Amino acid sequence: MFSSLRPKVEEILLKNKETPDARMLEICQLLKDSIPHYDWVGFYFRNGEKEELLLGPYAGAPTDHTIIPFGKGICGQVALSNKNFVVPDVKAQDNYIACSINVKAEIVVPLFVGGENIGQIDIDSNTPDPFTEADEEFLEFITKAVSQIL
Ligand code: SME
Repeated sequence: MFSSLRPKVEEILLKNKETPDARMLEICQLLKDSIPHYDWVGFYFRNGEKEELLLGPYAGAPTDHTIIPFGKGICGQVALSNKNFVVPDVKAQDNYIACSINVKAEIVVPLFVGGENIGQIDIDSNTPDPFTEADEEFLEFITKAVSQIL
Protein backbone atom coordinates (compact mmCIF):
# COMPACT_ATOMS: atom_id res chain seq x y z
CA MET A 1 0.00 0.00 0.00
CA PHE A 2 2.61 2.57 1.08
CA SER A 3 5.07 1.66 -1.69
CA SER A 4 2.45 2.14 -4.40
CA LEU A 5 1.53 5.56 -2.96
CA ARG A 6 5.09 6.94 -3.06
CA PRO A 7 5.20 7.53 -6.85
CA LYS A 8 1.74 9.15 -6.69
CA VAL A 9 2.97 11.56 -4.02
CA GLU A 10 6.05 12.37 -6.12
CA GLU A 11 3.84 13.01 -9.14
CA ILE A 12 1.68 15.46 -7.16
CA LEU A 13 4.74 17.31 -5.87
CA LEU A 14 6.05 17.76 -9.43
CA LYS A 15 3.00 19.85 -10.40
CA ASN A 16 4.93 23.11 -10.39
CA LYS A 17 1.98 25.14 -11.67
CA GLU A 18 0.05 24.31 -8.49
CA THR A 19 0.78 26.16 -5.24
CA PRO A 20 2.46 24.23 -2.42
CA ASP A 21 -0.84 24.40 -0.48
CA ALA A 22 -2.77 22.88 -3.42
CA ARG A 23 -0.22 20.07 -3.72
CA MET A 24 -0.27 19.37 0.03
CA LEU A 25 -4.08 19.29 -0.06
CA GLU A 26 -3.98 16.74 -2.86
CA ILE A 27 -1.58 14.60 -0.81
CA CYS A 28 -3.91 14.80 2.22
CA GLN A 29 -6.83 13.65 0.08
CA LEU A 30 -4.81 10.85 -1.52
CA LEU A 31 -3.68 9.50 1.86
CA LYS A 32 -7.12 9.76 3.47
CA ASP A 33 -8.81 8.05 0.51
CA SER A 34 -6.18 5.31 0.03
CA ILE A 35 -5.25 4.24 3.57
CA PRO A 36 -8.16 2.70 5.49
CA HIS A 37 -6.85 3.65 8.94
CA TYR A 38 -6.25 7.33 8.00
CA ASP A 39 -9.47 9.20 8.86
CA TRP A 40 -8.12 12.75 9.11
CA VAL A 41 -4.89 13.91 7.45
CA GLY A 42 -3.53 17.43 7.83
CA PHE A 43 -0.48 19.67 7.96
CA TYR A 44 0.24 22.20 10.69
CA PHE A 45 2.96 24.86 10.31
CA ARG A 46 4.61 27.30 12.68
CA ASN A 47 2.62 30.55 12.66
CA GLY A 48 5.29 33.09 11.70
CA GLU A 49 7.52 33.82 14.70
CA LYS A 50 4.83 32.84 17.20
CA GLU A 51 5.20 29.82 19.48
CA GLU A 52 2.12 28.21 17.94
CA LEU A 53 1.01 25.99 15.07
CA LEU A 54 -1.47 27.04 12.40
CA LEU A 55 -3.58 24.49 10.53
CA GLY A 56 -2.63 24.17 6.86
CA PRO A 57 -4.14 21.93 4.17
CA TYR A 58 -6.13 18.96 5.48
CA ALA A 59 -8.62 16.28 4.44
CA GLY A 60 -11.37 15.10 6.77
CA ALA A 61 -13.83 16.77 9.11
CA PRO A 62 -13.21 20.47 9.88
CA THR A 63 -11.54 20.99 13.26
CA ASP A 64 -11.88 23.85 15.77
CA HIS A 65 -8.17 23.47 16.52
CA THR A 66 -6.78 25.71 13.81
CA ILE A 67 -4.22 27.19 16.22
CA ILE A 68 -2.31 25.03 18.71
CA PRO A 69 0.21 26.58 21.15
CA PHE A 70 3.63 24.90 21.32
CA GLY A 71 3.55 22.28 24.09
CA LYS A 72 -0.22 21.69 23.91
CA GLY A 73 -1.65 18.41 22.65
CA ILE A 74 0.24 15.86 20.62
CA CYS A 75 0.94 18.38 17.86
CA GLY A 76 2.24 21.06 20.23
CA GLN A 77 4.54 18.52 21.90
CA VAL A 78 6.04 17.50 18.53
CA ALA A 79 6.69 21.19 17.76
CA LEU A 80 9.08 21.13 20.75
CA SER A 81 10.44 17.56 20.71
CA ASN A 82 11.30 17.37 16.95
CA LYS A 83 10.39 13.67 17.16
CA ASN A 84 7.67 11.43 15.79
CA PHE A 85 4.83 10.88 18.27
CA VAL A 86 2.80 7.68 17.90
CA VAL A 87 -0.31 7.47 20.09
CA PRO A 88 -1.91 4.00 20.04
CA ASP A 89 -4.71 5.08 22.42
CA VAL A 90 -5.59 8.78 22.72
CA LYS A 91 -7.51 8.11 25.98
CA ALA A 92 -4.21 7.22 27.67
CA GLN A 93 -2.75 10.70 26.95
CA ASP A 94 -3.08 13.56 29.48
CA ASN A 95 -1.81 16.23 27.09
CA TYR A 96 -4.16 15.59 24.19
CA ILE A 97 -6.56 17.86 22.26
CA ALA A 98 -9.65 15.94 21.13
CA CYS A 99 -10.99 16.89 17.70
CA SER A 100 -13.67 14.20 17.40
CA ILE A 101 -15.07 11.57 19.75
CA ASN A 102 -14.47 8.95 17.04
CA VAL A 103 -10.68 9.30 17.09
CA LYS A 104 -8.89 6.39 18.77
CA ALA A 105 -5.25 6.91 17.75
CA GLU A 106 -2.96 9.57 16.31
CA ILE A 107 0.48 9.92 14.72
CA VAL A 108 2.40 13.16 14.22
CA VAL A 109 5.67 13.40 12.25
CA PRO A 110 7.68 16.65 12.17
CA LEU A 111 8.64 18.41 8.93
CA PHE A 112 12.11 19.95 8.70
CA VAL A 113 13.40 22.59 6.29
CA GLY A 114 17.13 23.29 6.56
CA GLY A 115 17.21 21.28 9.80
CA GLU A 116 14.49 23.43 11.40
CA ASN A 117 11.20 21.95 12.61
CA ILE A 118 8.71 24.16 10.71
CA GLY A 119 5.61 22.00 10.86
CA GLN A 120 4.23 18.48 10.83
CA ILE A 121 1.86 16.00 9.32
CA ASP A 122 -0.89 14.81 11.66
CA ILE A 123 -3.03 11.69 11.15
CA ASP A 124 -6.09 10.77 13.22
CA SER A 125 -7.43 7.23 13.13
CA ASN A 126 -10.79 5.85 14.20
CA THR A 127 -9.12 2.42 14.48
CA PRO A 128 -7.44 1.58 17.82
CA ASP A 129 -3.64 1.05 17.76
CA PRO A 130 -3.30 0.99 13.94
CA PHE A 131 0.17 2.54 13.40
CA THR A 132 3.41 0.62 12.81
CA GLU A 133 6.95 1.52 11.81
CA ALA A 134 5.74 1.36 8.21
CA ASP A 135 3.49 4.37 8.87
CA GLU A 136 6.39 6.27 10.43
CA GLU A 137 8.68 5.51 7.48
CA PHE A 138 6.00 6.48 4.97
CA LEU A 139 5.15 9.73 6.76
CA GLU A 140 8.86 10.61 7.05
CA PHE A 141 9.05 10.11 3.30
CA ILE A 142 6.06 12.49 2.92
CA THR A 143 7.52 15.22 5.16
CA LYS A 144 10.92 15.01 3.42
CA ALA A 145 9.33 15.13 -0.03
CA VAL A 146 7.06 18.05 0.90
CA SER A 147 9.99 19.96 2.43
CA GLN A 148 11.52 20.10 -1.07
CA ILE A 149 8.70 22.37 -2.34
CA LEU A 150 8.60 24.73 0.67
N1 SME B 1 -5.25 15.78 18.50
C1 SME B 1 -4.31 16.83 18.19
C2 SME B 1 -5.03 18.09 17.78
C3 SME B 1 -5.20 18.23 16.32
S1 SME B 1 -6.45 17.29 15.71
O1 SME B 1 -6.11 15.87 15.86
C4 SME B 1 -6.80 17.62 14.15
C5 SME B 1 -3.41 17.09 19.37
O2 SME B 1 -3.62 16.54 20.46
O3 SME B 1 -2.47 17.87 19.22
